[in-house]
Amino acid sequence: MNSMSGKVALVTGAGRGVGRATAIRLAREGVRVIVNDLDGAELESTVNTIQSMDGMATGFVGNVCEPEIADELIQFCLTTYNQVDIIVNNAGYIWNGAMHNHTDEQWQAMLEVHATAPFRILRAFSEWMRPVAKAEMAAEGRASCRKVVNVSSVSGTTGSATQIAYATGKAAVIGLTKTLAKEWGRYNVTVNAVAFGHIETRLTQVYDELPPAIDVMGRKHKVGLASSQIKAMEKAVPLGRPGTVDEAAGAIYLLCTPDADYITGEVLTCSGGA
Ligand SMILES: NC(=O)c1ccc[n+]([C@@H]2O[C@H](COP(=O)([O-])OP(=O)(O)OC[C@H]3O[C@@H](n4cnc5c(N)ncnc54)[C@H](O)[C@@H]3O)[C@@H](O)[C@H]2O)c1
Repeated sequence: MNSMSGKVALVTGAGRGVGRATAIRLAREGVRVIVNDLDGAELESTVNTIQSMDGMATGFVGNVCEPEIADELIQFCLTTYNQVDIIVNNAGYIWNGAMHNHTDEQWQAMLEVHATAPFRILRAFSEWMRPVAKAEMAAEGRASCRKVVNVSSVSGTTGSATQIAYATGKAAVIGLTKTLAKEWGRYNVTVNAVAFGHIETRLTQVYDELPPAIDVMGRKHKVGLASSQIKAMEKAVPLGRPGTVDEAAGAIYLLCTPDADYITGEVLTCSGGA
């Protein structure tokens, strides 16, 4: 039997991109996944894809920035599968602009989705996890090893012009990761982050004329990279190309496996060496 079989994972932002690929990868290894996204149609497609490969997936549509969703999501995992072994805090988007053009709303939105939402989800998880881990320790000497992987960015680890709010949110989630790794070691929960460089998703679509926009909660956000930027990036990335969503999912997956049971508080950079 696969060593991941029977585990239960919650993956946020799993309707597209890295989150979708992560959910599919976990399901392929026998993990039962609860997938969340803002966009119901995209989420349904992820669930259908997983079910068509005989995996187990259930969708929960909702915005991770809504304060009450954290408790609802954890309760949904527990009612559906009665356990939570892996949490991947992946939901996110970019809202770029020069420092002098950043609004308070933009600043708050980036902190909410990249730092506050993971904080609330993990706080809700702790309500269930702590007594369960304590009972396992009393009965078996050690709690089952549970995993948290928070998605960060090289913008958060090294800074990125025009991304002051996004980069700050992605740096904040590293503080959350390292702190919880210290606090939850006693419960045998590993807490790590993956900081991505350039991964090919709708956030990094290539354009040659006007930048495309994505719609997040009724607001339009410009995204993408001009082909001149891609060329410059190719020179700066030792592997000479952007990463695929499957490669990104692989980095998250590594930290979810039993091989990573003694790794916690780390930030794994997945950037082709940039
Ligand atoms: N693509 C990159 O190069 C890159 C680099 C560094 C970090 N990241 C991070 O990776 C994560 C995934 O991004 P992606 O590139 O796959 O983008 P994506 O747009 O392809 O997928 C992100 C998904 O998250 C969902 N989402 C966004 N806000 C949400 C919310 N409030 N509640 C629920 N769902 C929400 C979106 O609907 C979307 O389906 C993000 O946190 C992003 O910041 C991406």
